[in-house]
Amino acid sequence: ERGGYPHFMLKEIHEQPKAVRDTLRGRVSDDLNRVTLSEIGLDEEQIRNIDRIHIVACGTSWHAGLVGKVAIEQFARIPVDVEIASEYRYADPIATENTLIIAITQSGETADTLAAMREMKKRGLRVLAITNVVGSSAAREADSVIVTWAGPEIAVASTKAYTTQLAALYLLAVHFGQVRGQIDEATAHEMIEALDNLPQVVEAVLDTAPQIESFAQRYAHAHDTFFIGRGIDYAVSLEGALKLKEISYIHAEAYAAGELKHGTLALITDGVPVVAIAMQPDLYEKTVSNIVEVKARGAFVLALTWVGNEDLEKAVDEVIYLPKTLPALAPMAAVIPLQLLAYYAAVARGNDVDKPRNLAKSVTVE
Ligand code: M6R
Repeated sequence: ERGGYPHFMLKEIHEQPKAVRDTLRGRVSDDLNRVTLSEIGLDEEQIRNIDRIHIVACGTSWHAGLVGKVAIEQFARIPVDVEIASEYRYADPIATENTLIIAITQSGETADTLAAMREMKKRGLRVLAITNVVGSSAAREADSVIVTWAGPEIAVASTKAYTTQLAALYLLAVHFGQVRGQIDEATAHEMIEALDNLPQVVEAVLDTAPQIESFAQRYAHAHDTFFIGRGIDYAVSLEGALKLKEISYIHAEAYAAGELKHGTLALITDGVPVVAIAMQPDLYEKTVSNIVEVKARGAFVLALTWVGNEDLEKAVDEVIYLPKTLPALAPMAAVIPLQLLAYYAAVARGNDVDKPRNLAKSVTVE
């Protein structure tokens, strides 16, 4: 049942090219000029009228939402708030009749996410669910659904669900951008071509597994570790830190790289591992200067950057090179080594990778 893999998590990590391909299938035109998402049940006028989007979710799905915000704001210019469902439901959120609620939930059964959906439906708002389970409560209760085709995810740590959620959010961002006239035809084509190429990108990144496995041996003894990045790389850092905590039980924190010097830098001492994500060309120089700051305090730094950036090798202890894609799509590539790092660190520590302590696959309590 694990298809020759020692754990479901590793199997599911390796299923990501297929999962992403299945999620994109039928949703981009053959000429790569248009996105089709008729299942969202919104006509062009309704899409043009959206004044704000609230994304609600928990855990890894919330992290996907953070990436989705950047893509939707950049491509469609619609303001997006990304809220933790257990907070949002009690926060008396401010929404207008043209606010679209997007609930992201792999299982479709997370109690707080369902409660947030119900609260907003009661107020007459339109709720779109992004879920991996066709017959789930979220799918049944939402006004419309985008199904992610990750297939069953068994490991408690979410991997392929996250990357398929990203695929769904990218599709939505391009679709909204096209309908609202925010992206011209040439740019739309370039984006859709890049989306269509994502399964190959993920496939190529999976080839870094042996390098990460051997790095993880040197890393697995850590007590505390930090993940840093800027912009959308920060959103991926949060996911990398969660994955590591969840299965390796190593304490990890994610920081917007520029925020480190406002307090946390005091914790960077000799040998403290820092994972730095530098996948945004516009922010690259700034991120490098943050890397130099932590190196100067003795940090042991693993950096993720795109192929061709060999310069970074001089500044850090280890570099993982990822294929270049559109900066907004970089999380799809960058998250893979972070999943693998968490996995191999957990294996090195002898943990029960697929069933981490204290956690359940589906959180149906509030
Ligand atoms: O099924 P959901 O997407 O609603 O689940 C949300 C979280 O419980 C889930 O993503 C959790 O954070 C994962 N175990 C993290 O790997």
